[in-house]
Amino acid sequence: MELQVLNHPLVEHKLTVLRDKNTPSSIFRELVSELVTLEAYEATRNLEVVDKPIETPVAPMVGKTIAKPRPIIVPVLRAGLGMLDGMTRMMPSAEVGFLGMKRDEEHPTQQITYANRLPDDLSGRQCFLIDPMLATGGTLVAATHYLAEKGAKDVTAICIIAAPEGIKFVEENIDPSISFRVVVCGVDEGLNDKSYIVPGLGDAGDRLYGVI
Ligand code: URA
Repeated sequence: MELQVLNHPLVEHKLTVLRDKNTPSSIFRELVSELVTLEAYEATRNLEVVDKPIETPVAPMVGKTIAKPRPIIVPVLRAGLGMLDGMTRMMPSAEVGFLGMKRDEEHPTQQITYANRLPDDLSGRQCFLIDPMLATGGTLVAATHYLAEKGAKDVTAICIIAAPEGIKFVEENIDPSISFRVVVCGVDEGLNDKSYIVPGLGDAGDRLYGVI
């Protein structure tokens, strides 16, 4: 697994405003979108491109264009939806799938997939999983496993904040035959007894969409 932490003053500034409990939902949503756009630049560094002959007003040339099959962006519901707009703005030609996962209350270490809208065959597709908080790592491992069962071999997870415990869990539990990268804006101190990231930003889904 490859981990990339964005060390950049703009990212640090936006992350600080995002974390502040006094930041209202409207600004929070905008900052998530901006941070994802910055992350997308790094996350798509290995995007496959092919030659494309074009003519500029001055001369013919061979440029590059995103290869087919199109990359797929997969937000993990619900909080991952808040990152979708920032990703599609950077990669409008990508396809979008959806994955809804929640903790299995009878087996708390396991995840239940309660919704999915994904192609049956993900072989040869570059997949971008988006989920803001890499806390225990359980959802990320389960989501990647789900994509791998459909043939995915190239998965990049884009998160805003990660906990060291979650990173370790992902490192130890992702199928090593998959090319797997994680891009995050920051790595925090750890998890509290409710598995919230400390200092973190609270419940990302609630801060994006209100408490339901
Ligand atoms: N999910 C969140 O929304 N926040 C955390 O701190 C951990 C998981």
